[in-house]
Amino acid sequence: MNWTCGVARDYVAETGLLGEGPLVAEEVGDGNLNFVFRVCRENDLRRSLIVKQAPPYIKVLGPDYPLTQQRLAVEARAMAIYNKLAPGFVPRTLKFDADAHVILMEDLRGYRILRSALMDGEIEPEVAAAVGTFMGTTHRATLAETASAQQLARYRQDFHNPEMQSITSEYVFTKPFQQDPTNRHTEGLDAIVADVRSDAALQAEIQHLRRRFNEAQQGVVHGDLHTGSVMVKGRETRVIDGEFAFYGPIAFDVGALLANYLLAWYAHAEADRVALLQSIEASWNAYGLSFGPSPQLQSIWRESIQFAGVKMLRRILGAAHVEDIESIEDVAERCAVETRAITCGRTLVIDPPRPEDLPARLVSA
Ligand SMILES: Nc1ncnc2c1ncn2[C@@H]1O[C@H](COP(=O)(O)OP(=O)(O)OP(=O)(O)O)[C@@H](O)[C@H]1O
Ligand SMILES: [Mg+2]
Repeated sequence: MNWTCGVARDYVAETGLLGEGPLVAEEVGDGNLNFVFRVCRENDLRRSLIVKQAPPYIKVLGPDYPLTQQRLAVEARAMAIYNKLAPGFVPRTLKFDADAHVILMEDLRGYRILRSALMDGEIEPEVAAAVGTFMGTTHRATLAETASAQQLARYRQDFHNPEMQSITSEYVFTKPFQQDPTNRHTEGLDAIVADVRSDAALQAEIQHLRRRFNEAQQGVVHGDLHTGSVMVKGRETRVIDGEFAFYGPIAFDVGALLANYLLAWYAHAEADRVALLQSIEASWNAYGLSFGPSPQLQSIWRESIQFAGVKMLRRILGAAHVEDIESIEDVAERCAVETRAITCGRTLVIDPPRPEDLPARLVSA
């Protein structure tokens, strides 16, 4: 059965979570994988909640493209642990139904996706700092080296998410760097794209990072922490969409966030760049403060910035691009932005700069 507004409305009515009386539903999901609806009381639209339902396939592609429904169970467990370790940084979960593959959660009414806010020039370094705090807190609290054997076994079991992890492995670390029918890039980039794919030193480093992604077991990782997985209202910040969570290399989350701010830095108007750079600095500072003093921080940074480099490249060479860049209509301008972002991404992988050297690296690309 395909979920529709009517199905979502009847489902919520049955739970009684919005009380008695008629309900209305609208689809709010602009995502690719799942159905997302807002259900409200007809006579009091402020009483509402969000329904997220995972069909056994990729929503936008249809039943010919099967995808494990276990993704929603993983998301429910991720949101549960985040609510415990970092309350206030994620929407509250109201109910998880493993049989129907449904999560009911707090409606982040008045919030919008961070990427859209950034594109509108609403750039609050406090938001990036909040995501940094969220990551540092949850990574620190779930670290393998400080967990008991029993706790560690539990994390590995709860966040065993091989199908989703292998999608990331393929679409981030593998396909973009080979010939693949899912890849696409802006016309005018053929030469630099071919150069990236044939750069042996770069490819060796990306293979190393792919192995780290697939094998490292450090902490609970959100797994998809780009600026489309964060919702904001002014400086209020919430992280959503934990279906790619796994027990893995914590730098992967930091890298995802950094990559998306870095792509924004290249894509956006000059006037936005100071605040975007401040955001990058604020997120890493907040990460360090919440993770706490540790000799590991230096290596986490190094690996994060390398993951960020790969993620920048895959957003230009691979299947999934970012709206910040896609919205540049002038092809020559888009090509120029992407060329700089590719140059930067490559150097981040090959020769990761220290935090204080990142601004100069950005400008010189
Ligand atoms: N708790 C919430 N409150 C308000 N809006 C929400 C909430 N959760 C999700 N949304 C809206 O629904 C959209 C899709 O949500 P989400 O990213 O969780 O779905 P998805 O199908 O997993 O997406 P993707 O294909 O990007 O993985 C979000 O971009 C946001 O606009
Ligand atoms: Mg998702």
